[in-house]
Amino acid sequence: MNSASSRIRSQVGIIGAGPAGLMLSHLLHLQGIDSVVVEARSRQYCEERVRAGLLEQGTVDLLVESGIGERLKREGLVHFGIKLRFEGRTHRIDFKELAGGRGVTIYPQQKVLQDLFNARLNAGGRIFFDAATVTLEGIAPSRGEKPAIHFRSDGAAYELACDFIAGCDGFHGVSRPSIRAGALSVFQTNYPFGWLGILAETPPSSDELIYAHHDRGFALLTMRSPQLSRLYLQCEPDDDVKNWPDARIWEELQSRLASKGWVLTEGPIIQKGITPMSSFVVEPMQFGNLFLAGDAAHIVPPTGAKGLNLAVADVQVLAPALVEFYASGKRGLLDQYSEKCLRRVWKVQRFSWWMTAMLHLFKADNAFDRRRQLAELNYVTSSRAAAQTLAENYVGLPLD
Ligand code: APR
Ligand code: PHB
Repeated sequence: MNSASSRIRSQVGIIGAGPAGLMLSHLLHLQGIDSVVVEARSRQYCEERVRAGLLEQGTVDLLVESGIGERLKREGLVHFGIKLRFEGRTHRIDFKELAGGRGVTIYPQQKVLQDLFNARLNAGGRIFFDAATVTLEGIAPSRGEKPAIHFRSDGAAYELACDFIAGCDGFHGVSRPSIRAGALSVFQTNYPFGWLGILAETPPSSDELIYAHHDRGFALLTMRSPQLSRLYLQCEPDDDVKNWPDARIWEELQSRLASKGWVLTEGPIIQKGITPMSSFVVEPMQFGNLFLAGDAAHIVPPTGAKGLNLAVADVQVLAPALVEFYASGKRGLLDQYSEKCLRRVWKVQRFSWWMTAMLHLFKADNAFDRRRQLAELNYVTSSRAAAQTLAENYVGLPLD
């Protein structure tokens, strides 16, 4: 231990205050397990960062059952279908009919984080913000060392001693790179495009999401509230928002989303950002006493709207495993953590890849691929079995 560090202790040390880290801390607290969260950014930054906004039924159920669903129930927009638009025609996928009455809820990730921060801090939860020089020690499986997280916050140095570390620090965090080289297998594929996302102060022009396949590239209409639209355009992978003045964005959205008799209403654009696209998984999601959850272990392209839901599904497996350990000293569920999560992760990877491959423009000159994509869309919108496959994955597969 560094003699200048203040030594603190918790049962579980959590790195990262995103959906995975905060939800884990909340679920553990409800079961009487103490955790400390170490976050590199400020609370304001975490709460304001514009990210995803679509919750599967299972995620909604967990938020409600764990006592933080009040605002979600009031403000969440429940949807029982999506629209696929191609060749100027619109086809609806009906979740009520095809997914056993389950639906999805539009509720911005920032609000999920605000609700979680409030719950944790009101319950006396310990969260260190603006943490710098975060390092992990004592995670190696066989050496019998005790894990610890070292960091600086507010001018002071800390050593957080704990029994387990949850690496919930996203794709660019320190947890995954702290694992010995060679201990993890990496599976990755990149896509030759990104998404330009905007927030516009205008009521959504459709009451349901529209996924559009178009010769100029993919477009998506979604929303954040009855007054706020969120729209995405396929763009170059290394594109810059400077290349996208408002007029160009609206022109492109108008062409790609066009449908006879339907009007896309424009409004002031209040936020713009570009998201790169990749599919990424590491196996296993555990190394000794370090458990990876959420984006630290896997990334999906946003076409299936799964990133946040997958992060929450991981901690729904991790929390009961830790509860079992503290109740009985048994590591049975902890040892199964990675395998259990990866079964779901790969199914969700498959779905996100499939939606992405069906809807985006890969090569402007590959006429065969475009015909194949249209055949796939025609099949999905004409076969009940194919539509059901989309619907049940979209609303969320059950935890197994
Ligand atoms: N030390 C401490 N915290 C860190 C570090 C670090 N070295 N590096 C990153 N973090 C923090 C980030 O600032 C962020 O707040 O970890 C958090 C990780 O949160 P997310 O990236 O949201 O990841 P996760 O909780 O796994 O949620 C994944 O949410 O943000 C979306 O697109 C994402 O949908 C996906 C889902
Ligand atoms: C969003 O609302 O931000 C959103 C919705 C559906 C997606 C991706 C993003 O597939």
